[in-house]
Amino acid sequence: MAPSTLQISLFSLLLLCSFSNAQNTPKPKAFAFPINKDDTTNQYYTSIQIGSNSSTTFNVVIDLGGKFLWFNSMEYFSAASSYRPILCDTQQCRIANGVGCIFCFLSPPVPGCTNNTCSDYALNPFTGTQGYSGLGQDVLHVISTRGGLHNLNNFPFQFSDPVLREGLARPTAGLIGLGRTRIALQAQLATTFNIRQIFTLCVPSSGNGGNLIIGQVAYNNPFQEISKSLITTPLITNPVSTFGNEVIGNLTVEYFINVKSIRVDNKALSFNNTLLSIDKNTGEGGTSLRTVRSYTSLHRSIYTALVNEFVKAAVSKNITRVASVAPFGACFDANSIASGKTGPEVPIIDIVLKSKSVYWRFYGSNSMVRVSSDVICLAFVEGSPNLTGPTTSIVVGGYQMENYLLEFDVASSRLGFSTSLLLSDTSCSEFRAS
Ligand SMILES: *[C@@H]1O[C@H](CO)[C@@H](O)[C@H](O)[C@H]1NC(C)=O
Ligand SMILES: *[C@@H]1O[C@H](CO)[C@@H](O)[C@H](O)[C@H]1NC(C)=O
Ligand SMILES: *[C@@H]1O[C@H](CO)[C@@H](O)[C@H](O)[C@H]1NC(C)=O
Ligand SMILES: *[C@@H]1O[C@H](CO)[C@@H](O)[C@H](O)[C@H]1NC(C)=O
Ligand SMILES: *[C@@H]1O[C@H](CO)[C@@H](O)[C@H](O)[C@H]1NC(C)=O
Ligand SMILES: *[C@@H]1O[C@H](CO)[C@@H](O)[C@H](O)[C@H]1NC(C)=O
Repeated sequence: MAPSTLQISLFSLLLLCSFSNAQNTPKPKAFAFPINKDDTTNQYYTSIQIGSNSSTTFNVVIDLGGKFLWFNSMEYFSAASSYRPILCDTQQCRIANGVGCIFCFLSPPVPGCTNNTCSDYALNPFTGTQGYSGLGQDVLHVISTRGGLHNLNNFPFQFSDPVLREGLARPTAGLIGLGRTRIALQAQLATTFNIRQIFTLCVPSSGNGGNLIIGQVAYNNPFQEISKSLITTPLITNPVSTFGNEVIGNLTVEYFINVKSIRVDNKALSFNNTLLSIDKNTGEGGTSLRTVRSYTSLHRSIYTALVNEFVKAAVSKNITRVASVAPFGACFDANSIASGKTGPEVPIIDIVLKSKSVYWRFYGSNSMVRVSSDVICLAFVEGSPNLTGPTTSIVVGGYQMENYLLEFDVASSRLGFSTSLLLSDTSCSEFRAS
């Protein structure tokens, strides 16, 4: 092709793009946020772009139970010409459910230190550290599943103290919340673009390739087919906040589901079932879903029951138990375990929901983790006492969510989940809008 032809076609392509952006961009229905897994910390993160003229792009950890976006970025700090504080006693402060007002007198004001500013606690879920400071807003740039670039002009967040970054995966500068608040990412997108508050999360088992799709849209195959036959269960609320410092409003931020029992190879574990319900007065108990926990944690008495039953069922399959490797309570000789399409062939674990026939089933790929070339362990851990509030009995962690399609219909408080995508010969790395 002659250079001049190339120039002309590029030029007309650019014209076409700017024309369609300015005039013809159809109303977006859904937005995509590609997900990476940090293999050192097992944290899942996405990338965001924020700021008007000189926007900054950085990674943030995805927290299903997080309240809002918080980050600390020197690059943003230096370029933050379009940062605006959310002032006290404003409608935006009420929407943010801010706790109190701060007065900070730097001149000129900088992100995180502005006068008369609506404030709230940001929680680092890895260290338990909470950072109290002012909330601000700026332009968040988002990409629709059709590829169009759109702006959320007043996206609220906290520019946090750098100490809050401790414990975050190295490539990240903060955390973005998908919890049940009005300033979480999906809530803001839903309000701004008048779309349903629904999102589909598909976290990868390593590296990049997962996807978070916010809004309703058709998926590529086989995901479109898979999404038509999701198993559903109500998303329930805990009336007591699991964040210790939530004084005003006590918003339920995390997503809980109603688990009725746990089975190993179809045999129900026996433990005190009171642990499975949420105590309406203390907020203790129940089952929540957290992408910021690597492995599902279980209350000590549930964990003990699981380990005992799992070891018994494994040994009956001629699997050899070996010394445990912390934090895991049951480990096995990898050479005594066959491997198949859904990972190591071990006893099946079911989280049973509203009836015996409605369950979330975990095969070896989600129930076992390799700790060395010869040893693989049951990828569940004993829950530790709460860092910041009432203790939840079961916290379903990221490892158990990998390679499942999870549809959070926040608008109608319903969770839809697929069977393991490995059964359909696919994985979250393939998941996208069609
Ligand atoms: C940002 O853009 C606005 C509007 O175009 C302009 O008024 C302002 O001076 C710009 N700020 C910087 C730092 O470039
Ligand atoms: C800070 O804001 C308060 C409340 O609006 C106001 O009374 C005060 O004068 C402000 N202080 C400075 C230094 O701007
Ligand atoms: C928030 O929770 C605390 C303790 O759990 C309770 O004392 C308080 O009344 C609650 N506040 C609201 C507004 O519900
Ligand atoms: C089960 O646990 C609850 C809450 O800890 C306790 O009140 C109840 O007595 C226990 N039931 C049994 C049978 O141990
Ligand atoms: C376990 O090993 C024994 C002895 O080698 C054998 O008879 C039995 O069939 C094996 N069981 C399974 C489930 O593989
Ligand atoms: C756990 O939460 C309860 C109730 O909020 C609180 O009383 C207790 O001190 C917390 N435990 C820890 C270790 O923080």
